[in-house]
Amino acid sequence: MLFKVFIMSKWWVIIVIFFYLFVSSRAENMNESSSPGSLDAELQNLAFEALNRPLTGKLYKVAIPASLSGIEASVVRLRSGSFWFRGVNYSHIEIPSRVVPTPFVQRFAIVYQNLGSQSSSYYKVPGYSMSTPVLGFAAYDATNLSSKGVAKLNLTTTRNRILIRFPRAMLPSPEGLNSSFKCVSFDAGMLHFSEMAMPNVCATRSQGHFCIVAPIREVKKRKDQRLWKWLGIGFAFGFAGLVIGGLVGGIIFKFMKRRRIKEMEKQAEESEALGTVWIGTSKMPSARVIRTQPVLEHGEVPQ
Ligand SMILES: *[C@@H]1O[C@H](CO)[C@@H](O)[C@H](O)[C@H]1NC(C)=O
Ligand SMILES: *[C@@H]1O[C@H](CO)[C@@H](O)[C@H](O)[C@H]1NC(C)=O
Ligand SMILES: *[C@@H]1O[C@H](CO)[C@@H](O)[C@H](O)[C@H]1NC(C)=O
Ligand SMILES: *[C@@H]1O[C@H](CO)[C@@H](O)[C@H](O)[C@H]1NC(C)=O
Ligand SMILES: *[C@@H]1O[C@H](CO)[C@@H](O)[C@H](O)[C@H]1NC(C)=O
Repeated sequence: MLFKVFIMSKWWVIIVIFFYLFVSSRAENMNESSSPGSLDAELQNLAFEALNRPLTGKLYKVAIPASLSGIEASVVRLRSGSFWFRGVNYSHIEIPSRVVPTPFVQRFAIVYQNLGSQSSSYYKVPGYSMSTPVLGFAAYDATNLSSKGVAKLNLTTTRNRILIRFPRAMLPSPEGLNSSFKCVSFDAGMLHFSEMAMPNVCATRSQGHFCIVAPIREVKKRKDQRLWKWLGIGFAFGFAGLVIGGLVGGIIFKFMKRRRIKEMEKQAEESEALGTVWIGTSKMPSARVIRTQPVLEHGEVPQ
């Protein structure tokens, strides 16, 4: 009996391990993308460290820690007045004249981001593949560089649009991108799609993060993948059901077998009694077979 319980517990361990592997492999697939908001804050902090006695209008490269490798950032400090007249054209972001940072401050800084190889771990565009790295920019109050809290500003433009010029080096093909590609801007988890303003150029009226995307054509392939996923789940449950069914069946079979052995023992005893009566008849050998069989089976099952 103890032996039987041991066998059964081993089966349960196998089932538990199987389900654990199944569930954990699913959990691994659901890797949450890193938070863009916290990245913005971290890059802003690093950028303001780079602004130590800065020259107005000069672009400074931001030192990026190893934990953010693959990402590039730069920063420029500007006077609102001259910015209004001239605009600024740095880091693939062309901001025209007549753009105002709001609320109004004397001096402000623009932090430029190029998420490079990390783009897809911070931003996702379901149904599209990202053809370029994500480029972003944001304005911050830089009137007092030693102040602790840094206020984020809005850059608002009503006339000329801000252009994001994706350089050739970022494009998947050297000829540039045709009309099947789209611009996407990311705004607090929302995606805004628009046509390219010019080849390889996206246009915007506010700061944010931008990327050029291409629709994924193989919709059928994705459906197939989903089908395979469900088949996999079905198989897993089917397999578990089979194991449990087998286990229950085995127990029932053993129980029945033992009952039959008991019955046969009883029968053998009876036939033995009868056998003595039947001495000399042709039924003698078959009676002996019946008698020896339960003894062998009985030896296999420890009581
Ligand atoms: C999962 O997310 C972490 C950051 O949270 C990242 O370092 C890792 O590369 C991601 N893994 C996959 C498979 O996406
Ligand atoms: C901005 O700079 C890019 C290259 O850095 C250049 O191609 C573009 O003409 C510039 N735009 C203006 C308005 O100067
Ligand atoms: C700048 O901020 C620091 C720290 O908050 C403060 O001590 C200092 O007075 C501020 N300077 C000006 C000019 O407001
Ligand atoms: C910036 O603009 C957004 C909407 O475009 C608005 O919700 C937010 O209050 C604005 N912030 C400032 C400081 O003006
Ligand atoms: C756009 O370019 C891709 C390859 O880069 C090509 O497969 C596709 O047919 C082109 N679409 C148009 C409308 O030219």
